[in-house]
Amino acid sequence: MRRAKITVVGAGNVGATTAHWCASMELGDIVLLDIPQLGDMPKGKALDLMQSGPIMGFDSNLMGTSDYADTADSDVVVITAGIPRKPGMSRDDLLSTNARIVASVAEQVKKYSPESIVIVVSNPLDAMVQQAQLSTGFPHHRVMGQAGVLDTARYRTFIAMELGCSVEDVSAMLLGGHGDTMVPMPSCTSVGGIPLSQLLPAERINQLVDRARHGGAEIVSLLKTGSAYYAPAAATAQMVEAIVKDKKRLIPCAAYCDKEYGVGGYYVGVPVILGKNGVEKIIELDLTGQEKADFQKSVDAVRELVKTMNGLMVQAAVS
Ligand code: NAI
Ligand code: 2OP
Repeated sequence: MRRAKITVVGAGNVGATTAHWCASMELGDIVLLDIPQLGDMPKGKALDLMQSGPIMGFDSNLMGTSDYADTADSDVVVITAGIPRKPGMSRDDLLSTNARIVASVAEQVKKYSPESIVIVVSNPLDAMVQQAQLSTGFPHHRVMGQAGVLDTARYRTFIAMELGCSVEDVSAMLLGGHGDTMVPMPSCTSVGGIPLSQLLPAERINQLVDRARHGGAEIVSLLKTGSAYYAPAAATAQMVEAIVKDKKRLIPCAAYCDKEYGVGGYYVGVPVILGKNGVEKIIELDLTGQEKADFQKSVDAVRELVKTMNGLMVQAAVS
């Protein structure tokens, strides 16, 4: 049986660490790609990672490249390409720069791996995944974004830290965009099957929810020179695993919702079944009044972001 072929575009912190987790989980053979201006850097990272196989006991093949021909016929493509915000750069500058990067990557993915499933990680996530779908023209269920697995992992970690229990026993769900408006769902959170509301007072749960909402910024303020990558990459590897092993995981992903939740044609974080066909089903939850209002606020923020991005892309095309 042929091994899965997994391409990771962007060999920076998140990309290289995603390759690391995917290789150590033996999810398939991995191609790590970055821009030609960085020379042999992706080759160096891929070879270094592969040489950890004999020690750690995995035998995935890894190759680094800047040539999309090497990515041909990938089963899964992870897009982590982008630039961080630099001093003097506006949010809109970053949005349009990363949208152009993601669009150019997506065109190569369409050309070389037309049957692939695409997982977008680049920020701002909810807009970048929309751009990737537009530029590949792939069916919506084959293009998705990673955010919810990371955000729930943060939330689960904080709950386990609070209760002094294993993170393995904490199960949680959240909805909405990847940002301050994300909507953790205490009503869908349990520990060893026990509803969280029986273990912690509402006020403390709200504090943990708030910490999860700002989990990315907390890491940035500690690292100072970049953003999180171990947990984001682990979250991405879990999505790759669900696809290549057809695990039918029920996890939160940025998925295209039209009639679902009344979103009207945008990518937002929702619970999905993830398997070999990509997003195989979107699970619609019955939201309470407050959850519905919070989700709507999050969808509105995503809609604004996408509108701004589309305007900037049109501007760039005519100038
Ligand atoms: P990084 O700066 O370490 O790596 C980005 C890489 O992309 C660089 O190596 C760069 O050369 C490469 N790149 C730029 N343009 C490219 C192109 N056209 N083709 C191929 N590669 C290209 O950044 P890091 O920390 O790896 O983050 C990557 C992205 O992921 C950022 O946009 C970040 O905000 C986002 N992110 C998203 C998360 C999520 O949960 N969705 C979590 C963490 C990061
Ligand atoms: C995070 O949540 C920066 O999106 C990134 O860590």
